[in-house]
Amino acid sequence: MSIIIADKKVLNEWVKLSLKLFPECSYQEIYEEYQNYLTNDLQKEIGFLYQIYQEFVAFMNISIRKEYVNGTNTSPVLFIEAIYVEEKYRKQGIGKKLIKQAEEFARSRGIKQIASDCLIDNTNSEEFHKSCGFRETERVIFFVKEV
Ligand SMILES: CC(C)(COP(=O)(O)OP(=O)(O)OC[C@H]1O[C@@H](n2cnc3c(N)ncnc32)[C@H](O)[C@@H]1OP(=O)(O)O)[C@@H](O)C(=O)NCCC(=O)NCCS
Repeated sequence: MSIIIADKKVLNEWVKLSLKLFPECSYQEIYEEYQNYLTNDLQKEIGFLYQIYQEFVAFMNISIRKEYVNGTNTSPVLFIEAIYVEEKYRKQGIGKKLIKQAEEFARSRGIKQIASDCLIDNTNSEEFHKSCGFRETERVIFFVKEV
């Protein structure tokens, strides 16, 4: 197995895995977004892919957030924007290895905190985060109003 940083060569695999986590998006939408990340010097998000032999079975997207992140007291923080493991590979430690990768990435850049979030009813993700050493900080409600 190996964990690689997503680049143009694996863009298709990165998008295909991401579509499983974001089924409301189209292939084209995610493709264009990721292509933008890969060509933009600021690289808004960085993707990591978990590979077993020739198969990509999991991915994680991270970003370095300079703005305030709920519950943190340092800046910048590394934020887990997305994490997904194919169903048949779950509960085998892959998600945790991806989080460890994020921790190493943060440490190598002098970043002191990693933050993440999940929907309030995603108890699987909540338990996963706690098992990986995250502590809950805040629960928030998002609002919107048309103007
Ligand atoms: C959440 C997810 C990434 C976890 O990946 P995974 O590879 O199965 O997790 P791991 O096997 O590395 O588990 C790490 C720890 O979390 C715990 N854990 C993982 N899934 C769990 C679950 N559903 N319920 C309770 N604990 C869980 C494991 O028991 C393990 O604990 P341990 O190290 O103390 O033994 C995976 O279930 C997934 O892709 N879910 C769907 C997408 C999703 O919800 N992503 C998060 C969006 S916020």
